[in-house]
Amino acid sequence: MAEERTDQNGQQPPQQGVVLRVAREATTTVAEKRGIGPRPAQVSTPVASPAPKPGPIVSRRVMVLGGFWTALGLALLGVFGPQLDFLYPRRVRGFGGPVFVPRNQIPEPGGDPVRNFEGRFWLVHLPAGTTPNGEQTQGGVLALWQKCPHLGCTVPWRPDFVFQGRKGWFRCPCHGSTYTKEGGVRVFGPAPRSMDTFRIPEDRIQDTGIVVLTGPNNAVLGGPDNPSRAVRLPGFNYES
Ligand code: FES
Repeated sequence: MAEERTDQNGQQPPQQGVVLRVAREATTTVAEKRGIGPRPAQVSTPVASPAPKPGPIVSRRVMVLGGFWTALGLALLGVFGPQLDFLYPRRVRGFGGPVFVPRNQIPEPGGDPVRNFEGRFWLVHLPAGTTPNGEQTQGGVLALWQKCPHLGCTVPWRPDFVFQGRKGWFRCPCHGSTYTKEGGVRVFGPAPRSMDTFRIPEDRIQDTGIVVLTGPNNAVLGGPDNPSRAVRLPGFNYES
């Protein structure tokens, strides 16, 4: 006699034929049951997945190295920067450096002073001999710094100003210091000295013009000897 099999719940398992029939019914569509058509293909819908997190643009290693070299560079710049700045050759133009004066901007000996705005000086041209103020000069050009030695006002040329019976003086508008046309020698006012002069190197005198070294570093303190500092230029007549 065949032994009856039971499952864990004590019930008999379904027979083999019954299982196959139930499985076939479960996989059969309504359309197939009704004879309408085949079972439709399964539709797969794409599902968006989150993008992975981007990594750091600059890694920590790069940041540390960058900070180190930046700090080192700044430290070296602080130590050697002033020396390099001092050694760097400068080509100063205008006031503070050499200023070229073309020949056609140089007055004739005894003529009225000519102002040079770039170099901030008055160019005077003296004939040889004794000036009306009593100084001796060989004759030549002289560059007078336009800055008043008293408090620094700009000293104008006053061609119509009459003083001590003579016409034409440098006269400061601030406190009235008065200087001669023939060399900027102080004759009146609170200024402590005559107008300062700029150097005119003899090796910078050319047929086309002259070079005046301007600026505080090139200024020579003014004095009664200003007329003797005049530099002769070729092609001019100094004997009147
Ligand atoms: S600033 Fe020229 S006289 Fe005082």
